[in-house]
Amino acid sequence: MKDKNIAVIGVGNMGGAMLRGMLMKSWAKPEKFTAADADRSKLETLERELKVRVTNDNRNAAKGADLIILAVKPQIIDQVIDEIKDDLTPRQILISVAAGVKAEHILSRIGKSVPIVRAMPNISALVGESATAMSPGKHATKEHLDAAREVLESIGMVVEVHESLMDAVTGLSGTGPMYVFLIVEGMSDAGVKVGLSRDVANALSVQTLLGAAKMMKDTGKHPASLKDLVTSPGGTAISALHSLEKSGLKAMLIDAVETATRRSRVLGRHPHNSGDEED
Ligand SMILES: NC(=O)c1ccc[n+]([C@@H]2O[C@H](COP(=O)([O-])OP(=O)(O)OC[C@H]3O[C@@H](n4cnc5c(N)ncnc54)[C@H](OP(=O)(O)O)[C@@H]3O)[C@@H](O)[C@H]2O)c1
Repeated sequence: MKDKNIAVIGVGNMGGAMLRGMLMKSWAKPEKFTAADADRSKLETLERELKVRVTNDNRNAAKGADLIILAVKPQIIDQVIDEIKDDLTPRQILISVAAGVKAEHILSRIGKSVPIVRAMPNISALVGESATAMSPGKHATKEHLDAAREVLESIGMVVEVHESLMDAVTGLSGTGPMYVFLIVEGMSDAGVKVGLSRDVANALSVQTLLGAAKMMKDTGKHPASLKDLVTSPGGTAISALHSLEKSGLKAMLIDAVETATRRSRVLGRHPHNSGDEED
């Protein structure tokens, strides 16, 4: 992708994280990137810190780009597509990261055979560690997918899934950093409760998470078998595990992922609906 121009439309939390993550890679030269957003203050910050080209004109950003990342809220994606569609051509690639919004919907709104790749990254793109799933739209060939993969791999790992699974991905890994932040916050609070300072409790909790994540990744072992390494007979970990099972930690996580998955489906069908109920 090193000679390609990339536009990111919507540089809030996710688009901004993707832009910063991509720019950590050696192939990504700032002059090849354009950031477009409605919020001028975000653009000023990115221009100053990343030296990318910025504009508050989405059409202008879309026009010169080989690959466009659409990272606006599902609620306004139609408005942005309507704005840029006349400038889109089938030689460009459009990556949409909007939760719930189907490639077919974007395609019919554009009304041209533009290759679309739907992607669901997560906020850890900011540090190049996103867990991203992607799925091709109707006109996306292997070549388009390879190009999208190259860009998305620059912000972390990428799996390809059928588009019908994108809401599940949104519920699990798109939303996933929030579950982890909450768990670590809880661990940190717990550390304070049992007498540690906040700084020490935070540092120990974060490193515990990092170490456990690295163990799971490096060994490739099922978490249940790694859990057995900690739970010695009559020890502290098995007592803590009993307490967590009584409180239903796993059931809570399953409920949360299901709820987020449902919300993603609702957002796709009714972007302005503020509840989670599907019809
Ligand atoms: N956040 C995540 O962890 C995450 C994870 C995976 C996928 N996503 C997806 O990423 C997309 C963006 O989410 P987000 O959390 O990054 O939201 P966000 O922080 O609100 O970012 C969206 C950005 O788009 C800007 N914007 C609003 N109207 C615009 C327009 N007409 N043209 C250009 N830019 C416009 C917003 O500016 P204002 O602030 O001025 O409105 C904001 O800076 C969503 O579709 C979401 O489903 C997010």
